[in-house]
Amino acid sequence: MRLKYSKYLIVTILYFGLLLTNTAMAQDNKSTTDRKWWKEAVVYQIYPRSFKDSNGDGVGDLKGIIQKLDYIKSLGVDVVWLNPIYGSPNADNGYDISDYQAIMKEFGTMEDFDTLLKGMHERGLKLVMDLVVNHSSDEHKWFQESRKSRDNPYRDYYHWWPAEKGKPAFRPGSFEADGSGWRYDKQTDSYYLHYFNFKQPDLNWENPKLREEIYSMMNWWFKKGIDGFRMDVIPFISKDTSFPVITQEELNKNYLGRWDVYFASGPHLHEYLQEMNREVLSKYDIMSLAEGAGMLTSTALNFVDEDRKELNMGYHFEGTNLGYIPGYFKKMGPYSLVDFKKIYSDWDKVYENKGWGTIYLGNHDQPRMTSRWGNDAPEFRAVSSKLLTTFLLSMRGTPYYYNGDEIGMVNAKFDSIDEYRDIETLAEYERLKLAGGDLKQFIEDQKTGGARDNGRTPFQWNSSENGGFTSGTPWLKVNDNHVTINAEAQENDPNSVLNYFRKMTHLRKTNPILVYGKYTLLDKDNPDVYAYTRELDGKMVLVLLNFSSKNATANTGLYSKKGKVLIDNYGKPSTNGELRPYEAVIYQIED
Ligand code: NOJ
Repeated sequence: MRLKYSKYLIVTILYFGLLLTNTAMAQDNKSTTDRKWWKEAVVYQIYPRSFKDSNGDGVGDLKGIIQKLDYIKSLGVDVVWLNPIYGSPNADNGYDISDYQAIMKEFGTMEDFDTLLKGMHERGLKLVMDLVVNHSSDEHKWFQESRKSRDNPYRDYYHWWPAEKGKPAFRPGSFEADGSGWRYDKQTDSYYLHYFNFKQPDLNWENPKLREEIYSMMNWWFKKGIDGFRMDVIPFISKDTSFPVITQEELNKNYLGRWDVYFASGPHLHEYLQEMNREVLSKYDIMSLAEGAGMLTSTALNFVDEDRKELNMGYHFEGTNLGYIPGYFKKMGPYSLVDFKKIYSDWDKVYENKGWGTIYLGNHDQPRMTSRWGNDAPEFRAVSSKLLTTFLLSMRGTPYYYNGDEIGMVNAKFDSIDEYRDIETLAEYERLKLAGGDLKQFIEDQKTGGARDNGRTPFQWNSSENGGFTSGTPWLKVNDNHVTINAEAQENDPNSVLNYFRKMTHLRKTNPILVYGKYTLLDKDNPDVYAYTRELDGKMVLVLLNFSSKNATANTGLYSKKGKVLIDNYGKPSTNGELRPYEAVIYQIED
């Protein structure tokens, strides 16, 4: 008898326990499906230097973007993210800022900026700026003061190490042939820290005065009416200023052997982001995006869990880092689709109940998505570009879409180092040269690999000289294939890559299931097909993506339930269930 009652008791406890968990989950889930404009937006990234030159100096500019506003609007995107347009000597194309409240001379004036912002808002487009505050330019007045003397009021705006203490502990510096993140400065017999090039000294966030300056500058831009910031390497801002020695063992044990993970583990990082949220972000209806360098699935929510009041979203590097051969500079090996699917599925899981994710395959630091993740051979270029667009715009998380990808631009594939302009590629070439490495092989590797100029060649507007980008000499060579691959040629072709992108943005905008729907991976070990469902309010869609250059099938168990075709990159899906090379289809699923 007693046993019987205790059985009931256990069942009752279990029942209520389950009920509570379900309610908690439903509430949690609500935060994921909680509607926000920045969750529903498609973000279009413009690399201003390469978008459109209005004055013939070979460099894209703000007036050029203004000329193209109707084109941008016609894409069906909602937000434009501009790479840095501030005062800069351009050691790293604007990621070295000498004046945060001015416009780079080559790009135009503050008046042009105001016209651009107004033009965007009139068209219902929002504008997100780049915020580069882990470092400034060495030509910023703060640094020029800081380096003058050890007791200068700006000294503590940067990280200095007095030479009498000996050499500082190693920190890597990207974009440096010798790989060091410290630079000796004779004037005060000290070293300063730079995680990137020596012309990009790291700002000292441990100094409250510096933080105040940054917040006031951010407020100034928000009062002007901008709609958000993409924050450059923001996870790196806080540093252990005792600069301890970090041994390889420690790095392996605590930081996955990765310096970016160490850099993103500063002691006061989240304190500063919460302060920034209080002092700036919370005051406006804007969006904030972390460039999630060093961000892991285990740490991502620390940035974007809404209860923590930090940022809205972050973008990780695990997807774009897949396939690089260790020990080489961004040399591309083959990648496994099964690994690719796992990465994107694991990241979707991070934001299942809280926070919000992002999705991207290309940007100004990456090779062209079609060359890297699709296939840029003539017979597959268009269809694989469309496949990747289908993926980007049918996943959960805000899509960041890079200018030029909408017309299927491909890698520059330069034959000589003289054609490259990017500080990173030039430094890596120099480093290899010093080490006596194989320079010819390096150039070959960069054609398919990660040279950032692959994604930075000027936008191909038409088939005329220099692709209609400039009437002068372009700062970076225009890809010869602009004669056939260009926006004008695609404008009136209903089957073009460009018009497919427009169809896909429209589909996402008109189907909230593609924004908020739960994501489930199917047939996960299939080496050729990426298949998943999205579900919302009792409805389901099935996405089938054949990432291979041969026919393939997916085993989803949903074949008989496939209903209306929402989009298909061949115009019409095959009827025998087989997907053709790089075929992408989205079906509505019917009971
Ligand atoms: C990340 C930016 O995307 C990249 O272009 C830049 O070189 C580094 N951060 C340094 O600012």
